[in-house]
Amino acid sequence: MKLYLIYGGKSAEHEVSIKSAHSILQKLYYEYYTVIPVYISREGNWLKGSVVEGLTDVPEFEEMNQTDTKEAFNFIEMLEGESVAFPVLHGPNGEDGTVQGLFEVFDIPYVGTGVLSSAVGMDKIISKSIFKDAGLPVLPYQEVKLTDWKVHSGVVMDDLETELGFPMFVKPANLGSSVGISRVLDKDKLKEAVEMAFEYDYRVVVEKGVKAIEIEVAVLGNEDIHTSVPGELIKHKPFYDYEDKYLNQEVIRQVPSDISDELTKELRELAAKAFHAIDGSGISRVDFFLTEDDKVYINEVNTFPGFTNNSMYPRVWAKTGLPYEDLIEEVIQLGIR
Ligand code: DAL
Ligand code: MG
Repeated sequence: MKLYLIYGGKSAEHEVSIKSAHSILQKLYYEYYTVIPVYISREGNWLKGSVVEGLTDVPEFEEMNQTDTKEAFNFIEMLEGESVAFPVLHGPNGEDGTVQGLFEVFDIPYVGTGVLSSAVGMDKIISKSIFKDAGLPVLPYQEVKLTDWKVHSGVVMDDLETELGFPMFVKPANLGSSVGISRVLDKDKLKEAVEMAFEYDYRVVVEKGVKAIEIEVAVLGNEDIHTSVPGELIKHKPFYDYEDKYLNQEVIRQVPSDISDELTKELRELAAKAFHAIDGSGISRVDFFLTEDDKVYINEVNTFPGFTNNSMYPRVWAKTGLPYEDLIEEVIQLGIR
């Protein structure tokens, strides 16, 4: 079977995707697959081959002598013989249902969540309203549309202050990895933060900020789903941006988190419930806030979470008893089934 490992992408999470793809390439079961890496450049060009963008030093890949060129990728070849697509893509144009739709149209099996769940998971406003409907605890939030902002930003800011208070988090509706997000402590900085978020999207979500730790639970499965032990992000400041998270690797991941058994059980149940609520399949990582007085809130579902061997998703699975290489094989099998 041909396995198309698709990575890079037009989103701001391009580098994270390359790192995830690099790790996956080292641990694939090459005896089962002819592996064909497909790199999507920042401009959106699809190129075949691992030689692009730093994937050259994966000895396993070279030893197995897998297909490796550097030519424009002709999508039609996926329709010849048996293929499975493994989109290792984070953020818009990859994790948001668009690429998944392409595979659906051509009847190509693919790894990860489907069109609807990917789209819902990427949209911070739609996903919150679905979580609320499903009875999941969500922090107070407000949606801000660019059209309203342009007409009366002063009124919008007054409303945000009354409804949410400070601190608040300002986020573009459709992005991942903290891009475009600010933590705002007072009204002076609010305008700047909202306008920065509007550089990335025409819909912005503003959330009440709470003092909390972040706990993440991994979900795996189609109809029959499994949840992992929770992992915790150990933070030394209230907000980590994209560079802190992925380039400077400042966030420390504690796996498993040492929260009580009772809370662990609750979070695992909520993670499964969130996955069902968005009609998830395959994989997802569900992120929660846990406040000092043990109140739990769901933050978001990442339908293609960071997938390097050091990322939270693979690490919590390893601690739950599923090593990285077996996890990779399992997600591929879930895609084919
Ligand atoms: N969006 C990044 C990759 C994550 O959630 O892990
Ligand atoms: Mg998150």
